[in-house]
Amino acid sequence: MKTLLIVFHSLTGGTRQMAEAAGRSAAAESGVQVRLLLALEAEPADILTADGYIFATPENLAAIAGLMKDFFDRNYYAALERINGRPYATLICAGSDGQNAARQIARIATGWRLRPIAEPLIVCTHAQTPEAILAPKVIGHHALTRCGQLGAALASGMEMGIF
Ligand SMILES: Cc1cc2nc3c(=O)[nH]c(=O)nc-3n(C[C@H](O)[C@H](O)[C@H](O)COP(=O)(O)O)c2cc1C
Repeated sequence: MKTLLIVFHSLTGGTRQMAEAAGRSAAAESGVQVRLLLALEAEPADILTADGYIFATPENLAAIAGLMKDFFDRNYYAALERINGRPYATLICAGSDGQNAARQIARIATGWRLRPIAEPLIVCTHAQTPEAILAPKVIGHHALTRCGQLGAALASGMEMGIF
């Protein structure tokens, strides 16, 4: 059985909901095993034993979240040249932008020789004030459906050998 690894970090819950939606649909609509792991906890063995990946992160200060960067920093060289060609997708939860975080993931994934199966999916919460930015997030149904579709598409493609 193939394994889809979803690695995520989330401060106020938005990215977590996106990652969980992707994982739920992937598990429901394919025979692929789904593993959802906090970036803080993911280790080289988790990456090496997976067949495809979803990286999900907030955009903080025009960058991927620090703990997502830590995940890549800790695991990059242990996985380099050992996961070439595997498929991946990106989920970004942002206040109003998200592009730079998406670019950073794409660059790291290019280094790993991973294959993107879709454009990064960016969901903006439109939180503007410090209070709104620090408040718990509720991601809307439409956005979660899109995350689910992306997860299901990746998992189905993995199962069928398309990716
Ligand atoms: C310290 C900090 C910096 C942020 N910087 C950005 C930013 O550069 N661009 C952006 O679009 N959103 C920015 N945001 C907003 C977050 O991306 C947004 O609140 C998102 O919901 C966070 O995801 P989470 O709920 O999974 O933690 C920032 C939030 C924090 C806490």
